[in-house]
Amino acid sequence: MDSSSSVIVRPARNVAGKLTLPGDKSISHRYAMLAAIADGTTRLENFSTGADCASTLACLRVLGVKWERDGSRVTIHGFGPRLSASVSPLDCGNSGSTMRMLSGILAGQEFTSELIGDESLSRRPGARLEAREGGQPPLRITGGRLKAIDYKMPVASAQVKSAILFAGLFANGETIVSEPVRTRDHGEQALAAFGAEMKHRGNEVRIEGGKLRAIEADIPSDISSAAFFLCATALFPGSQVVISGLLLNPTRARLLDILISMGVGISVTQLEEQHGELRGTVQVHGGALNGATIAGADTAALIDEIPVLAAIAPYTANGIEIRDARELRVKESDRIAALAANLRAMGAHLEEREDGLKIPGGQKLHGAEVDSFGDHRIAMAFAVAALRAEGETKISRADAAVISYPGFFDTLESLAQR
Ligand code: S3P
Repeated sequence: MDSSSSVIVRPARNVAGKLTLPGDKSISHRYAMLAAIADGTTRLENFSTGADCASTLACLRVLGVKWERDGSRVTIHGFGPRLSASVSPLDCGNSGSTMRMLSGILAGQEFTSELIGDESLSRRPGARLEAREGGQPPLRITGGRLKAIDYKMPVASAQVKSAILFAGLFANGETIVSEPVRTRDHGEQALAAFGAEMKHRGNEVRIEGGKLRAIEADIPSDISSAAFFLCATALFPGSQVVISGLLLNPTRARLLDILISMGVGISVTQLEEQHGELRGTVQVHGGALNGATIAGADTAALIDEIPVLAAIAPYTANGIEIRDARELRVKESDRIAALAANLRAMGAHLEEREDGLKIPGGQKLHGAEVDSFGDHRIAMAFAVAALRAEGETKISRADAAVISYPGFFDTLESLAQR
């Protein structure tokens, strides 16, 4: 990476290797937050190395929670349900997960908190309570005694679901949340692991107010980070990559089904479960690469993997169509616009729609100057697309990758054969 943090990615002839990846970002946030309000000391192995999860830990420290970190091992000394008021605003950095999910816990605290974020987070919607016009941060939350609610979520969001369930811990009685389509269930699994009383039926979750107790956990490898290597492998017939300890929670593993349906060879061994989270060793072989249509519930299930699927779409035989993905316009960047701009810069033809993209297959791309738009998943997606392009690709503001995966470019280089 040079001083302006751009990265050059050269085309590869193949990819091969064995990997273990940092812990899942979604699980790391949730375990850290619940550990903070639990009784006892929580020990976490393979905690996410991403800057977003560091934002969560930093906010917890400001709220009085003591923790130590030794590389990917994090020890959190539970403070119990009542945190201490922070005199300064809680800086969530680029992390929407920190802001949304911590709000659930702060709603149960008898003090006022202000949550702020970086320029990208400050543009994003989703904040309620006292927010700027349009629901954007900064966000002020005055917590207090909570009443249990029965909430039917209008928009599918796993973070909002978790935030309400976390707030439910502080309410008397039973809080009920139902979602329009099933989203990742790490909040439910984590709450159950920390001892909360939960019930599930279909798309409805119920939680009783109550106390948590500390856990010990080894966090599975992040499947949304693995997605970049899975898709890189898919680009080269005859390639083979093995990822061990990979998160295989059924609400997160839809990418594997999609890749299989596209002709990629995938086998899973050494399945294990801890605290309701499934993991295994995944072996991927590149072969045929047909197209796919991603719509409806699949779009919600693949929301973080769509950037890399779109980035490899031109190389597929039949193209990829993405529908019902309006949410992508309000992620760390407008991901639909960013994907369209970068793919076009590399010479691809495509159709950009309000809620998705239609990207024809059978295209050849050339190296180009592309931009991360300050978005980690866009930076990493185009490093993957660059492996099959003709000529070098320069990705500017590639340091955005640190948000979820600081070692990404080195790991990708270690797999690329030239
Ligand atoms: C996440 C849920 C998704 C995802 C985000 C992480 C989570 O967002 O895009 O990166 O940890 O629950 P939604 O809250 O919009 O589902």
